[in-house]
Amino acid sequence: IHPPVRSICCIGAGYVGGPTCSIIAARCPHIDVTIVDINPARIAAWNSDPDPLTGDLTGLPVFEPGLSDIVKECRGRNLFFSTDVDEAIRKADLVFVSVNTPTKKSGVGAGYAADLHYVESSTRRIAQVATSSKIIVEKSTVPCRTASSMRVILESNSRPGIHFDILSNPEFLAEGTAMRDLQAPDRVLIGSLDTESGQCAADRLSEVYENWVPAERIYMTGLWSSELSKLAANALLAQRISSINSLAAICESTGASIHEVAHACGLDRRIGPQFLQASVGFGGSCFQKDILNLVYLSESLGLTPVANYWKQVIEMNEWSKNRFAHKVVQTLFNTITGKKVAVLGFSFKDNTGDTRESPAITVCRFFRRELARVSIYDPKVPEAQIHADLVDREHDATGVVAPQGTNNVTVCSSALEACKDAEAVVVLSPWREFRCENLDWGHIYENMSKPAFVFDGRAMLDAEKLKKIGFKVHAVGTGP
Ligand code: NAD
Ligand code: UGA
Repeated sequence: IHPPVRSICCIGAGYVGGPTCSIIAARCPHIDVTIVDINPARIAAWNSDPDPLTGDLTGLPVFEPGLSDIVKECRGRNLFFSTDVDEAIRKADLVFVSVNTPTKKSGVGAGYAADLHYVESSTRRIAQVATSSKIIVEKSTVPCRTASSMRVILESNSRPGIHFDILSNPEFLAEGTAMRDLQAPDRVLIGSLDTESGQCAADRLSEVYENWVPAERIYMTGLWSSELSKLAANALLAQRISSINSLAAICESTGASIHEVAHACGLDRRIGPQFLQASVGFGGSCFQKDILNLVYLSESLGLTPVANYWKQVIEMNEWSKNRFAHKVVQTLFNTITGKKVAVLGFSFKDNTGDTRESPAITVCRFFRRELARVSIYDPKVPEAQIHADLVDREHDATGVVAPQGTNNVTVCSSALEACKDAEAVVVLSPWREFRCENLDWGHIYENMSKPAFVFDGRAMLDAEKLKKIGFKVHAVGTGP
């Protein structure tokens, strides 16, 4: 029913579409891959020239270790970035829909439900322009049963004789390790309808992955299970972090150490050691959004206790971020007004320049409200992004949002510069370069106001070493 895939279109050139389809192009030289987006600046960045000195593609819109090499290898060979959405759809055998699905900001379900209008407009576009049958693949994270709405849209708008099969193929990559995750995934999930053409479509997509993923790692399920598994996996991962962070709070008041507690629990094979790193809180564009989506789904099914159960994972995360920020103020003698507070790390985790839902935003905003002078260093986040994330916005009488500036925020180009004359250093993302073996903490100490405080929001620094230098150290999950 569907021929083997020779041409792929990916709608959405973002954090998922870009890396995912670059790997497909690298591993499947016999398939043409075109990644399209309605945002011309994003496409121009994907097509940007290499740095003349290093040869690296430093202008790509997404920073991921290893991505630049893959794009360099494939771009212009069988990997293309374009704003011509219609042409790419027309020539594709298979179309990935990898557009954003943020939390709805207004209307029914605001604050919880996923905003599906980007998915819907991509689907309508496919129906309008396709001149041959195609496999349509949901790559975006979507609420359970979205494929059913996509099918209605496709069937009601397509030309006669054209047939679409919809698959769910959620993405499990984590930012910062995306290339590794894509090259050696724990599993690839493909959900399809239990029809002859649905199964054929699933087999065709599986054949694409089998170019580099062992067949036993490709798990075929029904459509609805696949859609729900993506929300479930993110909810379970986030739940582990909220659980360990709740225990970190107990550790800080009892003298237990969260490192020892996490290690002791992780030795049980039923629990396992991963994802038990205590922190200021989790961030990233997806955990919160996907749990809210699950909460909304549960509420709409009348399952209020289920909704409340998952909501608590987010509430614990909000509490963790605020608890940490409060602790900084409390420790600095209950006031940080006019004090210089250095923040190391602004991205939501290491090895990424992404700041979406970064805990650093919550914590820095808290410091700004306390009228501190905040100086920030992050190895990858551009200065303009930090200001955009921290700018105060006020609604004027007509409801227009007006930026109110970020005058007590300074973005620095090194950790040493950010920490100079500061009263406290606050570590908010776990970049390796902040570790004691990589950063000259002795030098930082010499140039700070005394007493010099370190607040380790990632429980990643060697506290004993820092104390020996003279710092007063407060780390998440360890008592004073
Ligand atoms: P993103 O915002 O980085 O990229 C989405 C892109 O889609 C944008 O560039 C936007 O311009 C484009 N777009 C929107 N509507 C379009 C249209 N009609 N035609 C063409 N382009 C259009 O988002 P992302 O982080 O790549 O996430 C995409 C999806 O993948 C989301 O559903 C997300 O939940 C899911 N996901 C994200 C990650 C992650 O690590 N970021 C991991 C797994 C799954
Ligand atoms: C997460 C999932 O890990 C991916 O499988 C999923 O595909 C993705 O969401 C998605 O759907 O978007 P990501 O958000 O990129 O990936 O990064 P994670 O490594 O999961 O980290 C999320 C947040 O949790 C970060 O702020 C991180 O620092 C924090 N974290 C993680 C902890 O505080 N402790 C841990 O033990 C692990």
